[in-house]
Amino acid sequence: MKLRFLITAGPTREFLDPIRFISNRSSGKMGYALARAACRYGKVTLVSGPVALKPPTGVTIVPVTTAQEMADAVLARFADADVVIMTAAVCDFRPRRVATRKIKKAGFSGVLELVPTGDILATLGKRKRHQLLVGFAAETDALEANAQKKLRRKKLDLIVANDARAMDAETNQVTLLYRDGRVERLPEMPKSQVATAIIRRVTALRT
Ligand code: CTP
Repeated sequence: MKLRFLITAGPTREFLDPIRFISNRSSGKMGYALARAACRYGKVTLVSGPVALKPPTGVTIVPVTTAQEMADAVLARFADADVVIMTAAVCDFRPRRVATRKIKKAGFSGVLELVPTGDILATLGKRKRHQLLVGFAAETDALEANAQKKLRRKKLDLIVANDARAMDAETNQVTLLYRDGRVERLPEMPKSQVATAIIRRVTALRT
């Protein structure tokens, strides 16, 4: 059976003014590698934040910038997806106000007021019907415990936990935590191989 994959990758940007933004550290490499690996199993849509990577051939790219744009793009395509994999490093906060003109140094108070963005994956968890939901958790501490909490809270089928030091790197060592309680630790491998391993397991869960 051909599966329809919806994959997100890269960071989002949350603007203060037309020049400045806050963002997350993310190269997009893991998400792009997953999109490339998923192509062999079906149709792939990749909702991508700003990254310096070439889109894989055969993949439909939807470029977005902010967390809100990513949420809109994902929610609009959710009903038609069989597997959703959120690798994106979505900003958890955005500036309360976005100035339409450049904030001048002399006029800046030094305080930046932030408000939470919506949690895309948690929203999908509430709305899911036939879809298989896969999340990522990049942690600096208590990797498995934190990933386990996210798996439950966001109602995921699988969460891929990795050390935050994998960001920007060419390799990754991930631990897979499944909804049924199974935990599987994969060896450190190039991100392309990690991607293939994840897609194989996801397709096995879906069929
Ligand atoms: N995620 C999302 N929407 C957000 C934040 C995160 O969909 N606004 C997704 C990420 O793409 C990832 C998963 O949720 O698949 C976990 O993201 P992470 O930043 O590790 O978790 P948070 O829920 O933001 O928790 P915390 O910041 O407390 O670690």
